[in-house]
Parts: sequence; C-alpha cells; structure tokens
Amino acid sequence: MFNTIKKFLPILLSLLFVIACGGFDGPQSTFDTHGPVAKEQADLFYLILWAGMVVLVAVELAIIYIYIKYRRKKNSTRVPSQTHGNTKLEIMWTILPAIFLAIVSVPVLSAIWTIGALPKNPDVVVNVHGHQYWFEFKYQDLDVVTANELHIPVGKKILINLYSNNVLHSFWIPKIAGKTDIIPNQGNYMWIQGDDVGMYYGQCAEFCGESHALMRFRVIVDTDEDFRAWISHQKSEAFVPNDPLEKSGYDIFMSSKAGCGGCHMINGSKKAKGKIGPNLTHFGSRQHMAACILENNQVNLRNWIRNPDMIKPGNIMSGQAAVYMDPNKSLTESEVIALASYLQSLK
Ligand code: CUA
Repeated sequence: MFNTIKKFLPILLSLLFVIACGGFDGPQSTFDTHGPVAKEQADLFYLILWAGMVVLVAVELAIIYIYIKYRRKKNSTRVPSQTHGNTKLEIMWTILPAIFLAIVSVPVLSAIWTIGALPKNPDVVVNVHGHQYWFEFKYQDLDVVTANELHIPVGKKILINLYSNNVLHSFWIPKIAGKTDIIPNQGNYMWIQGDDVGMYYGQCAEFCGESHALMRFRVIVDTDEDFRAWISHQKSEAFVPNDPLEKSGYDIFMSSKAGCGGCHMINGSKKAKGKIGPNLTHFGSRQHMAACILENNQVNLRNWIRNPDMIKPGNIMSGQAAVYMDPNKSLTESEVIALASYLQSLK
C-alpha cells in the first residue's frame, strides 16, 4: 500500500504543479474577466464549484464516519444485520439533492436568460462570418468590413450575429465572453461588452479543419473617441502608392497574372472586388496577420506570400490561387517583396 503511494505521489504532486502553472491572469484566462458576460459566467462557475465542494465534503465526512464507526471490531464474529432497502433513507437522498438542484437552478437560469437575451438597443452590431480559417467582421450600418481584429467601444453593448457558409466554428473571447457556436447556414447571435480598454485574445473554439488551432482573432476595446476615429479611418479610401516599390506591388496585385483581386477586395478598386478572402483595404492598419497568428511585419508578410501553406496548412489561398497552383505563375522573389510592401502601405 505504502509502496504504491510512494510510486504515485510524485506524479500527483507534479500534476498539481502543472495546473498551478496556468495562473489566473493568463492571456486566455476565463477567471480574469473584463466584461459583464464573462463575469456572469465566472460567478456562476464559482457558485457551482463551492456548492459542489459543500456536497463533496459532507459526503466524504459521512463516508469516513461510517467507515470508522461500523468497522468490524477485533476478534468479533458478529454478523451485521442483513437488510434490503430503506424507504426513509431513499426518500431522503432523493429529496435532498432535488431541493439542492432547485436552489442552484435559480442563479443558473437567471444567468442563461441574461446572457442569452437579445439586446434591445445594441450600440454596435457586427456580423461575424467564420471562414476556414479566419474571421470576417462586417459592421452593420457603419459600412466597414475588416478581418481578425474586432474593434469595439468600451462599456457598450455589442450585438454579434454569427454566420458560416462552410463548417462549424465557435466564437470565443475568454476574458469577455464564453463560446458561442457559429452554425453553417443558420444564424446565431451573442452579445458582448468590454469594460476595460485593451487588447484581448480570441479564437475559434470548434474544430473546423486542419488549421483550426490557427484561427485566432483579437478584440480591441477602444475608448469612444478612438473607436470613432478607427471607424472613420476604415471608411476612408484605400491608399494608392507613389513609391516605386509599393507601386510595382500595386500593379502586381491588380494584374490578372497574380489575380489577387479575384478573392480580395480593395474598396473603390475596379480590379480588386473579390469576396472570398479578407478585405485588404486597410490591411496595413492591422497589428496582426494570418488570423492573428503572426505580427504584421515585412518578414512575416513575405513568408506568408511566398508559401501560405507553410504557415496555415489547408488555407484556401494556397489551395486555389493560381500563383501557388500553377508553377508557371509562381511569384518571383522581387514580386513577393513588392507585394508585401504594397500591402503594408495600405494603412
Ligand atoms: Cu474555425 Cu475552428
């Protein structure tokens, strides 16, 4: 017995160590809440946890008490009374948990109704489209379309409509709101509110293909003023470069050889009107790229344009764009550099 304990003790202790490593304020901790939805969910978690602890302790104490009190005495040959069933006890252990669950159901149902309610007058409405593997954000009534970085004003109710025309995804911002599934060909919705200015991690939380784990996003909670400035900037016309390198990137982007415009939109351009890939009108204003798995800089962008499948396996661009499918149309290194500098000029 003691040998077995000795054997497993280090494993048990290291397990505790691993759990403790998570911390309560990690980038994706659901305990470090920054909005009413996440807070309601965390509060509920704690309530159920402590209620469960009370039951656990009571049951374990009863087991220990009975184990000691009714154990066989030394040298005793007495056989315990043999009974089958005990109506009183059975009624008691059916009714007690029922009462307990009834009490717990009050805060649970109230939280479900609060979180599940459709906000009556949301301050901002965003239609979120789940793609393989990135998120598209369309601001309803504001005429803004962007990808992977969701800006919202602080302290305001945001209605999020969720759509997918491909597979299941799930929208999750651990510090602001729990997961809500995005169901193909059937709308779903949730509401969120960010109570503190800052940048928050989000990610797809439903397995959606080989790059599911690389389908991330950020929520940027702005002051009212910053949010308005961001919206008006996003509505502004796309930058048309004069710099020779950026200009040559622009020409490649708009050419039929590269065919970027078949899938990507640059607002106002006649040649880039695609809707399959992310809208790139203000790509350079985003801090991250490739669904927020990389910082948006020249090195990462060139690597991405060179070989997107290396960075995000199974993405549609590397599987469908002629420059990756047809060896005769492959981008040269100078074309890659020009494209990257044009894309980053799109502030
Ligand atoms: Cu989208 Cu997982």
